Amino acid sequence: MAILTAAGSGTRLGRDLPKALVELDGAALVVHAARRLAASGVVDALVVTAPPGLVAAISGLVGGDAAVTVPVRVVEGGHTRQQSVAAGLAAAGPETDVVLVHDAARPFASPELVRRVVAAVRAGHGAVVPGVPVVDTIKAVSAADQCAVGARDEVPTGANNVVEPVASTPERALLRAVQTPQGFDRALLDRAHAAGAAHAANAPSTDDAGLVEALGETVVVVPGEDAALKITTERDLVLAALYADDGGT
Ligand code: C5P
Repeated sequence: MAILTAAGSGTRLGRDLPKALVELDGAALVVHAARRLAASGVVDALVVTAPPGLVAAISGLVGGDAAVTVPVRVVEGGHTRQQSVAAGLAAAGPETDVVLVHDAARPFASPELVRRVVAAVRAGHGAVVPGVPVVDTIKAVSAADQCAVGARDEVPTGANNVVEPVASTPERALLRAVQTPQGFDRALLDRAHAAGAAHAANAPSTDDAGLVEALGETVVVVPGEDAALKITTERDLVLAALYADDGGT
């Protein structure tokens, strides 16, 4: 079973509709993502999280798409991604033993990647994330007064009056940029979300595997791929078009 998160507003894309409904190559991003999950052959059902008021619209789009060949249920998401995933998890049937969590913002993650993640979970890893080596040197910065915490990952490129002290420089060879779909043993993900629920509103997690790490449990990384890039800005849409015509197989 896969939870497909599509309840974000996508404000950084600057469109007047939620990001998951933005069209590329003739279909909404959420539909592209659902097609590839279904094409993997290892996902038996989808639960999609929708923004308030768009449950029926997304249900029609995803459930009505001929290439989405698995049952689709759409639930209303929460204020944060973590709350949306929790809502999706609550809708999982009792028979679900492996759960994938995938972002509609990564519409072209390939069926092969989906299979790789599920295979690693079935091989006994309770929490599996795809990751790719990073090309930039990454620095951790310490809190700077100039930058509100809530906007920390949204510092605009043009905000060149921001000065942030460097706290550390992790060794690049050991860093991975993490993607979705992330795969979990269902009982472990249930436990991680139950433990993380208290922080969901104030310090929401952007990554389900992080909730598992907070439990002290092991998370493993499998090779990710360029096609699973995350769409945040207009530039990402242009890049993503490179992967749009693979037919989802
Ligand atoms: O905003 P961001 O791009 O980080 O969102 C990642 C994914 O989480 C997107 O697919 C978005 O639709 C989803 N999301 C959600 N509920 C929220 C916020 C984001 O399902 N409240």
